[in-house]
This record gives sequence, C-alpha cells and structure tokens, in this order.
Amino acid sequence: MFHRLWFCLWHLVGVFSDDKLKTVIVMEDDSFTLNSDLTEMRDDDQIHWRFGKYLLAEINKRTDSMTVYDDVLDGRFRNRLKLNNQTGSLTITNIKMKHGGFYTVENLNTSVIFMLIVYDEVTSVSVKEGDSVTLNSDLTEIMDDDQILWLFGSENTIIAEINLINDSICDDVLDGRFRDRLKLDNQTGSLTITNITTQHTGAYILINGAKPSLKAFRVSVYYSVHCCDSVEAVIRLVVTALVGVAAAAAVIVLVYDIRARRAEMDL
Ligand SMILES: *[C@@H]1O[C@H](CO)[C@@H](O)[C@H](O)[C@H]1NC(C)=O
Ligand SMILES: *[C@@H]1O[C@H](CO)[C@@H](O)[C@H](O)[C@H]1NC(C)=O
Ligand SMILES: *[C@@H]1O[C@H](CO)[C@@H](O)[C@H](O)[C@H]1NC(C)=O
Ligand SMILES: *[C@@H]1O[C@H](CO)[C@@H](O)[C@H](O)[C@H]1NC(C)=O
Ligand SMILES: *[C@@H]1O[C@H](CO)[C@@H](O)[C@H](O)[C@H]1NC(C)=O
Repeated sequence: MFHRLWFCLWHLVGVFSDDKLKTVIVMEDDSFTLNSDLTEMRDDDQIHWRFGKYLLAEINKRTDSMTVYDDVLDGRFRNRLKLNNQTGSLTITNIKMKHGGFYTVENLNTSVIFMLIVYDEVTSVSVKEGDSVTLNSDLTEIMDDDQILWLFGSENTIIAEINLINDSICDDVLDGRFRDRLKLDNQTGSLTITNITTQHTGAYILINGAKPSLKAFRVSVYYSVHCCDSVEAVIRLVVTALVGVAAAAAVIVLVYDIRARRAEMDL
C-alpha cells in the first residue's frame, strides 16, 4: 500500500510542481489546443510558438500583432493553425502523424515544451456490466528498461504503471472508481478491470516510455436488458455510447516522467 500511494503521489507532485513539459496524446484527425500559463499575455509579452526549430507563430502584444507561419516544413501545418488572440493558445486542427513531436512556447523569460504524441489505432472493447475485461499490452515480456503507464479518460489519469523500480496500481484516483478493480500483469503489462461499471467507460491508453509506443482502447459497458427496465437500459446505453465517444475524442494532457523526459530532449 505504501508503494502504491508513493507512486501515485509522485506523479501528482510531478504534475503540479513542474509545468515545463507537457505530454499531449491526440488521436489522429482530432484537434488540440496547446495552452500554457505563458500565453496569458501581458502588455510587454512577446510569445513564440515553435515546432522543433521552426517558428509557427508569434504574438507581439506591444504592436498588437499576431502572425502564423503555417508554410514551414512543406506546408504540413497549412490551414491547421489557429492562434487565439485572447489567450495566446495555439490550436492545431486535423492532426496527422506528421504533426507529432515537440512544440515550444516561449516568452522573453521562459518556455514550456509540449510533447505531442499522435495515435491512429484504437481497439474498441465492449463489456457487459459486472464482467471483467483485460486490455492486452501485446508484450510477451517486460524488459528492464520498459516503462509502462496506463492512462484513463480525458484527463489522462495514471491508473497503473510498471517501471524499473516497481509495478503499481494507482486506483485511488478519480474518486476511487477503480479501487480494488484493477489487476496488472507484471509479466506482460496487461491491465484487467474487474466488475466493470459505466464509470469505467472511456479511453485507456498504454504508453511504453522506453520504445516509445502506444496502444489505445475504447471501452464501452453495456447492460443485459431485462423485460421491465428496457427503456431505462436503452437510455443508459445511449448515454454510455455518447460518453464513450466524448472520452475517445477528448484529447489528453498530462505531465509525466518529467525528469527522464527532459534528459532526452534535444531541440
Ligand atoms: C481577436 O479575435 C476576434 C475573433 O477572432 C476578433 O473579433 C477580434 O477583433 C480580435 N482582436 C484583436 C485585438 O485582434
Ligand atoms: C521575467 O521574469 C521576472 C522575474 O521572474 C518577472 O518579474 C518578469 O515579469 C518576467 N518578464 C516576462 C516578460 O515574462
Ligand atoms: C518495490 O520496491 C521495493 C524496494 O524499493 C522492494 O522491496 C519491493 O519488493 C518492490 N516490489 C515489487 C513488486 O517489485
Ligand atoms: C509478479 O506478480 C506475482 C503475483 O502477483 C508475484 O508473485 C511476483 O513476485 C511478481 N513478480 C515480479 C517480478 O514482481
Ligand atoms: C461490483 O461492484 C458493485 C458496485 O459497482 C458492488 O456493489 C458489487 O459488490 C461488486 N461485486 C463484486 C463481486 O465485487
């Protein structure tokens, strides 16, 4: 229990104490808005957005001007960038694999880096309420340098992880909706959710920090319809389906593994 808590807290601390690197996981064809405190513009602010070394946009509050350079890199950003003149945030629409990578926003003093990960394959899984489901990592064996993270929902909450030091379940998150329902296979990294309910509907993402690779699942939960509660069941089914779509379409920002990542960064 101590270790379990320790790992979960470690991530929380990471999230709140260091906002210099954000990991963003986006499904292909979705849009995402890159946002940071930096972009809350003050009068003297000059803000630059870059993709790698390429300048994508600049904001000069003094001259009250904003410029988007979407012709860089053979136009891969053409007509896909939207700069918000109130917040300074940058929206990328219709994201493709080639938009994955490092984005930086900087003002005179400081900068924030976003690592954008794009994925294009989602495994849909439908489970009856009360049943169990195993989300398969497709790994046969966990290597020493593998760093497995399981994330859930639009907030990309970490629910389980395996790393060099330990494997752990973080089921105290999200009002305890996963409490005592998760099993992590320490050989393969596969995650089992037992006694599933509609609260567990949504997107599950497996990240292997060592590769890096990603697997995404969309889990929906259905009811077995009885004679007398069929109307309610159908309504709840529809609601579940809608929540599922929203969760899958939602894009997910998290800050994780800041120290390790930062060491790897090479802009
Ligand atoms: C900001 O954008 C809105 C809508 O895009 C526009 O109506 C407004 O004039 C813009 N303001 C400035 C200062 O450019
Ligand atoms: C730069 O940092 C200093 C001290 O942290 C702060 O007072 C100042 O407002 C910052 N300037 C800009 C342009 O962010
Ligand atoms: C987790 O790490 C501790 C030491 O940090 C070790 O004693 C324990 O056996 C590890 N647990 C697992 C499951 O590897
Ligand atoms: C894997 O889990 C099993 C059962 O939970 C445990 O007995 C075993 O020690 C674990 N192996 C490692 C390497 O942590
Ligand atoms: C399954 O979860 C429900 C609440 O969602 C609980 O009432 C029930 O006891 C659980 N069943 C098992 C076998 O754990």
